[in-house]
Amino acid sequence: MGVFSYRKFRKGTIRDRRDVISQGSGKDFAATGRDEDLLDLSEVMIEQAVGYFGVPLGVAGPLPVDGKKIMIPMATEEPSVIAAVTFAGSLFSSSGGITTRASDPVMVAQIFIEDVGEPGAICVEKVFESRDIIRKRLKPILETMEERGGGWRNMDARWIAPSRTLAVNLQIDVRDAMGANLLNSAAEEIRPLLEEITGGRVLMAILSNRSWNRTASARLSIPVKVLGHNGFNGKDTARRIVRASRVAREDPDRGVTHNKGIMNGISALALATGNDCRAIEAAAHAYAGRYGPYHGLSEYWIEGDVLQGSLEMPLPFAVTGGAVGFHPASRWSLEILGNPDARGLSRIAAALGLAQNLAALRALVSEGIQSGHMGLHARRLAYAAGARGDEIPLFSTVIRNDDIRGKEEAARRFSEWRLK
Ligand code: MEV
Repeated sequence: MGVFSYRKFRKGTIRDRRDVISQGSGKDFAATGRDEDLLDLSEVMIEQAVGYFGVPLGVAGPLPVDGKKIMIPMATEEPSVIAAVTFAGSLFSSSGGITTRASDPVMVAQIFIEDVGEPGAICVEKVFESRDIIRKRLKPILETMEERGGGWRNMDARWIAPSRTLAVNLQIDVRDAMGANLLNSAAEEIRPLLEEITGGRVLMAILSNRSWNRTASARLSIPVKVLGHNGFNGKDTARRIVRASRVAREDPDRGVTHNKGIMNGISALALATGNDCRAIEAAAHAYAGRYGPYHGLSEYWIEGDVLQGSLEMPLPFAVTGGAVGFHPASRWSLEILGNPDARGLSRIAAALGLAQNLAALRALVSEGIQSGHMGLHARRLAYAAGARGDEIPLFSTVIRNDDIRGKEEAARRFSEWRLK
């Protein structure tokens, strides 16, 4: 970037940083955002902001969830993800549907203590005996959450023998929040108290993203006949979906891809609602390895002439705090969803993950997934060739009809097409 003032870059405003980059590199910022409000928003959301990245936002559906047809906002860069959910929703148009449940939104904060004066088991005992004092010390921090029906739920302690470290886990119901701030504050608040109780020194205090106490599940039923299409028999397709889900549970290589498909939906909803996608992803994959070998998160089986499917996983979605409800696009997405509470949103996420998975498996065990990508591929090629607005669908039809493949050929043909 040529001569560059790192100080100015760090300390300046977003506009200063954009100036520094464009003076040093000659690059303009058209691709990284021009809306002044959104530039200010970027500036207050992260450090060293220079712009914002426009990930496409779509609305999938309708998907029948718990007796209601819902439309689901999804932010994703991947083609076919939204189409797959809408397609899965259409499979339920005559019968069947998805039902969901969610646990209470309980998260865990961890405090690790080293150099404890006494054997681990005795320290564990001492921490348990001090439970009421610990709870009392946390009262001021948890007060507002307790007024909302959340707050303290439980506490446990464990000696990690190999690293000679004591782990104290606080279980806190965080209601509609993701909970990171509250949990981290609670964990830090009791550092001195725990040092006093154990005679040790706190190594670190932070929430756990494992989120095993914050799960949601979805269940679907669909008549097997609905799965038949293009010469593929419905019953056989259902049987193959069941086998594909078993393979994902028995072969970790396949399990990861299977779960990646589930997360295509869930992460897109997380991004659209401003949720912490990394936390949700981390919890999902940890859950997939909870019995030892990594495995697919969903399961399918056949009862009579009906395909049944289920998915259960941690879904630590929030509807307030952090970027959620602060970013205008997140507020918009929550409104489209009818402003659910956090448990409601995690139930929608579970239904979405299962629908996404059903659509992927159905395609994989029948015609494959590539044919479904061709339409969007042609539209991208048309865009890359220079088509804009109404030209995009028109020229992508030309691309498909004439089997135009490369970018160069598309660009050349686009110039000729435009002249006609
Ligand atoms: C692609 O993004 C997702 C799939 O690979 C999921 C799967 O294989 O189940 C199609």
